[in-house]
Amino acid sequence: MAPRPSSNDTGIAELQALGAQVQQAIADYAVGKTQDTNDIARRCHLLAHRAEAPEVFAERLRYQPLSICALMIAIEGGMLQALASSPEANISAEQLAQITRRHKLDIVRTLRLLSALGACDEVGLQTYRANDKTTVLASKGQIGGFRVSSVPISAITTKVEEFFRKHASGEWEEEANVPSLHTYTYGQSMYDYLRDHRERRADFDAYMEARKQEKRRRWHHCYPVLSQLGVRSDVPADSSQMAVVDVGGNQGHDLATFQESNPDFRGRLILQDLPETVEPLLVDQEKQRVFEVMPYDFFTPQPVVGATLYLLLAVLHNWEDKECRAILKNLADAMAPGSSRLLISGLLLPDVGAERRAAELDMQMWMLQQSRQRTETEIRELVRSVGLDVAKVWENGDRESIVEVRKVESALDAV
Ligand SMILES: C[S@@+](CC[C@H](N)C(=O)[O-])C[C@H]1O[C@@H](n2cnc3c(N)ncnc32)[C@H](O)[C@@H]1O
Repeated sequence: MAPRPSSNDTGIAELQALGAQVQQAIADYAVGKTQDTNDIARRCHLLAHRAEAPEVFAERLRYQPLSICALMIAIEGGMLQALASSPEANISAEQLAQITRRHKLDIVRTLRLLSALGACDEVGLQTYRANDKTTVLASKGQIGGFRVSSVPISAITTKVEEFFRKHASGEWEEEANVPSLHTYTYGQSMYDYLRDHRERRADFDAYMEARKQEKRRRWHHCYPVLSQLGVRSDVPADSSQMAVVDVGGNQGHDLATFQESNPDFRGRLILQDLPETVEPLLVDQEKQRVFEVMPYDFFTPQPVVGATLYLLLAVLHNWEDKECRAILKNLADAMAPGSSRLLISGLLLPDVGAERRAAELDMQMWMLQQSRQRTETEIRELVRSVGLDVAKVWENGDRESIVEVRKVESALDAV
């Protein structure tokens, strides 16, 4: 028999097995064994990857920046938003050109690629329709995410060769002096840049909230606050003595959903973040009814001493070990042994076999902040180094673990 014309070495049996796994994932979802369709997508990707010839795979990676380029043309030109909010189901390039005042040919070329990627549907000659992905991509929070992550990373990519050449030749002498790629590219750290660029700061804050919206389970769904803290929701007097402090809590989305889910909670809810993040909230009476707003730099001593619960949600991955220890030490100093707890949330990297999204998040932290995702062992070591101890790790699914931390009675070993 003539050999099968193929430029990759993947066997038919393997493809059939992967196809069967896709079928199984669909069957599991149909009977409710899995909550969402992400497992189906993951297995489809595995099948697509094994079926793809190496040269095609290489070509796809090579052209990947063009997807972001097309998306940013569509976003900054208002095409995606016009498509998503169109009262008509179908909209032509001509109509989009009138609405956005962009050249029709630019629209046709941009939406050609975005349709091929599945970001919208091409339903006829130069005619398009929004699909479920378009609506999400055109939302404020997702647009913010592309502006503060994809765009700077694209700019950083242009500096990669130069940066690593200098690094290898000892440009910065000591490892501690190596700037982040963001600082090297933009002359400022990411948070300093956001402080000086209000529009980008607003994009960042919108993105912070949006990335939580896709989560079915928030931190308080995973960590049973009231039972863990010994509060019964029918005894308001107990909870009134409590304080929950969200350190680096952005604009308070995690406290707001906690209050919504626990309307009987009578304690203090305190939001702490940088002045430029929380100051817009100081004029928002509605938000202030839900939580107290406190501008605070977590590299300075924690002003709320002996709180019942401190939250550090998706914060430590922004910082290298030295900074993490400083943040944790300020919390350790404020925590009361026995009664205070700290919840550290984030993605814990497995020692081997991290999935793509986890590895990407780690790369993003490296590029933007010279920081990283950590394994459970690394988090435990950080926590121990400041006289704290891990009580339990709560799994929240979908890339989030919550590490519950207490202060050990004797903090003599703290640094
Ligand atoms: C990745 S975001 C996480 C926000 C929120 N906890 C969440 O899980 O959505 C990190 C937060 O840390 C805040 N932050 C950065 N540097 C800070 C500092 N020195 N003091 C206090 N907050 C800071 C940022 O403004 C941002 O809101």
